[in-house]
Amino acid sequence: MQHWWRDAVLYQVYPRSFADADGDGTGDIAGITARLGHVADLGADGIWLSPFYTSPWADGGYDVADFRDVDPRLGTLEDFDAMVAAAHALGLRVMVDIVPNHTSEEHPWFRKALEAGPGSPERELYVFRDGRGADGGLPPTNWRSTFGGPAWTRAADGQWYLHMFAPEQPDLNWGDPRVREEFRGILRFWSGRGVDGFRIDVAYALVKDLDEPLRDLVLVEGGRFEDILANPDHPFLDRPEVHEVYRDWRRVLAEFDPPPATVGEVWLPSERRVLYTRPDELDQAFNFDFLRTAWDADAYRRVIDSSIADAAQVGTVPTWVIGNHDVVRPVSVLGLPAGTDQGAWLLSDGHDPEPDLELGTRRARALALLELSLPGSAYVYQGEELGLPEVADLPAESLEDPRWVRSGHTDKGRDGCRVPLPWTVEGASYGFSGAGGDAVGSEEPGSAPWLPQPEGWGRWSVQAQADDPGSVLSLYRRALAHRGEFSSDEVLTWDDTLNRGPVLAYWRGGDVLVLVNTGEEAVELPPGRVLVASVETDGRLPGNAAVWLRRE
Ligand code: NOJ
Repeated sequence: MQHWWRDAVLYQVYPRSFADADGDGTGDIAGITARLGHVADLGADGIWLSPFYTSPWADGGYDVADFRDVDPRLGTLEDFDAMVAAAHALGLRVMVDIVPNHTSEEHPWFRKALEAGPGSPERELYVFRDGRGADGGLPPTNWRSTFGGPAWTRAADGQWYLHMFAPEQPDLNWGDPRVREEFRGILRFWSGRGVDGFRIDVAYALVKDLDEPLRDLVLVEGGRFEDILANPDHPFLDRPEVHEVYRDWRRVLAEFDPPPATVGEVWLPSERRVLYTRPDELDQAFNFDFLRTAWDADAYRRVIDSSIADAAQVGTVPTWVIGNHDVVRPVSVLGLPAGTDQGAWLLSDGHDPEPDLELGTRRARALALLELSLPGSAYVYQGEELGLPEVADLPAESLEDPRWVRSGHTDKGRDGCRVPLPWTVEGASYGFSGAGGDAVGSEEPGSAPWLPQPEGWGRWSVQAQADDPGSVLSLYRRALAHRGEFSSDEVLTWDDTLNRGPVLAYWRGGDVLVLVNTGEEAVELPPGRVLVASVETDGRLPGNAAVWLRRE
């Protein structure tokens, strides 16, 4: 039997921004439980939950202080169990995020490491080093944090510790057997609570080359991806030794029946990424290639072909991603003026130039039909099914992303895609708070949402879209209702006659023809019954649009 995850659609829930049951302005586990019906109605196969663990939220929960508990602001372990039970009752799987590269600075291990001092076994759980220069006042290497600034921070006693992300997120030392054992225990803990899978944060970075002397990097403008390409033997990204961690985890997860699935966050070129999904490692790795692909048929063709071929090398199928909680929302990216460097826009500030949201929405609808028709599985980030745009003008005082501070207030960071969801057309928080009530919109007056929702946010709400056949939500629902007709077939066959110029054309499941027109001019539709279309078709497929046709 085919594994469930091979063609699954997972809906990513960012817990703080999904639904707030207790009215404190922050989403919570009970809110998720109350709104699971939305995910089921959408037709997704399950949810992936971003971190909900005890955390000081220096990085929105990706700084974990207790890997085995729920943050009290989000609920309790009992709430979590109830949420899993409710999801399962609706036929939804639950994947949780696991963050093994680092802990919070408030994790008891790190506190003890600071107290215990240089040379102690407690410090060995992290990466502490003496600095360079006469008084050790310079960082041990030139490594940069992903959020800006050096990847080292100096402790009070003069040693430096490594953090690939914020200083509040010290990196663990995966060379230490205690770290490996701890994460085996964490996997068992959540597997025992019935989760169906794990999403692994920065899966390609856990193991570092810490042989002395530590090596400086060739640093290149543009971010980590460019650094990887410039440093083939990178000291902390994509080390060959990291694969052994996942072989070990596969053995741990095999203790459960069925074994929970795994998907790694692996920002690497396709041919290196798929090595993480060899049969004895992870089940899947996120394929982020679409995020860096311009609205261009040839570019999409290349990504589709290479993703499928590379995955086949290791006996698997690709995953597809058009957005998540770390990148600018697709509606805004696709509405950028031609020629904008999309990769740079995603990785940097991203709020200039101004996107054309009408065009972006039209293209995002078509891209959804492309994504959801490809062989493999798809990850849909909350709000994509509503066509939410990036909120580019959040007031500076509301920003929480560490990139804002670490960049010296030049990069607004990722909060623009994390604004709490609108559920109702009206109301102080558009139905976000008060999700514990009986009906959508049973809003209690409460605290304001943790990030301000823009004026008029309710026009994108679930309530506004649910009964509108032309809405983005209805498009996603229709697409997911039809996807099951072909998704278990893992073959994509290009149509040699129709697939050319700005038009992508391929067959799925034998008799479903997918057409995506990235150009501006309409093209004739071949005969067939329209299953779902991103626009009115009327015998022709307009530009910036897509359709699924069944051969009659
Ligand atoms: C990747 C996560 O998706 C991102 O949100 C987080 O900031 C970093 N990893 C660090 O955990």
